[in-house]
Amino acid sequence: MPHSQLLEPINNFLQCSTPEQWVEQAIKKENLSVILIDHLICELKAAQSAMFLIRKYAVDKESGDALLAWLKPFETLIYKREGDWRDLAAKNKLTKSIIPKSNSPYGQGLIDKMVLLIKEELHHFYQVLEIMDEYGVEYQSITPCRYAKGMLRHVKTFEPNALVDKLIVGAYIEARSCERFAKLAPHVDKRLGDFYISLLRSEARHYQDYLALAQEIANFDITERISEFGKIEAKLILSADEDFKFHSGTPA
Ligand SMILES: [Fe+2]
Ligand SMILES: [Fe+2]
Repeated sequence: MPHSQLLEPINNFLQCSTPEQWVEQAIKKENLSVILIDHLICELKAAQSAMFLIRKYAVDKESGDALLAWLKPFETLIYKREGDWRDLAAKNKLTKSIIPKSNSPYGQGLIDKMVLLIKEELHHFYQVLEIMDEYGVEYQSITPCRYAKGMLRHVKTFEPNALVDKLIVGAYIEARSCERFAKLAPHVDKRLGDFYISLLRSEARHYQDYLALAQEIANFDITERISEFGKIEAKLILSADEDFKFHSGTPA
């Protein structure tokens, strides 16, 4: 499938497209490091939040521990600055099968989708590290932008609505990332552009997985809730933003 076809449902799902002013900032040479570092962190966070969801809602303690052990070397690299990033490719594997806990209303379907998603996000994380190495971008810690927090504060506090909302937020983050990779690709050099295009396919599937899971878990029609989060998301993208990051708003 050509990527224009992948993007069509994404562009329909998102209530606005990325402002040109953001693209102009993002393709500047001096912003390459913030874009790459923030992208790197987004990949880790995508893996962490998917893992948090299955640990909280779906698996027994033993499976939860195996999941944590899988993520650990990736987190150690970022949070403790320990380990050689080149070793991480070989560490992206689960040593045990992950099974639903006995009283979980969420079954193997959610677990399998999320485990695949985590594996892909950790692979992307590794690929961003490779790119950073090639472009001579050194990792340094940066502050998170307002985007994810700006959506998560609208998440309901009771179940299953809280989980449904988190899955919808996950879908928006994936979809927006996908849209931005496609916007950036034609303006950056070939190596980076090809990498962004290679991410579209999996991120497009991730957004659909999140939505399908949200609808599966909800005992109500989620259409209305999707459009509420769509409005919140569009506002975060279109309104002026002092901060410049991968998911920031219109550069102020
Ligand atoms: Fe990713
Ligand atoms: Fe993703």
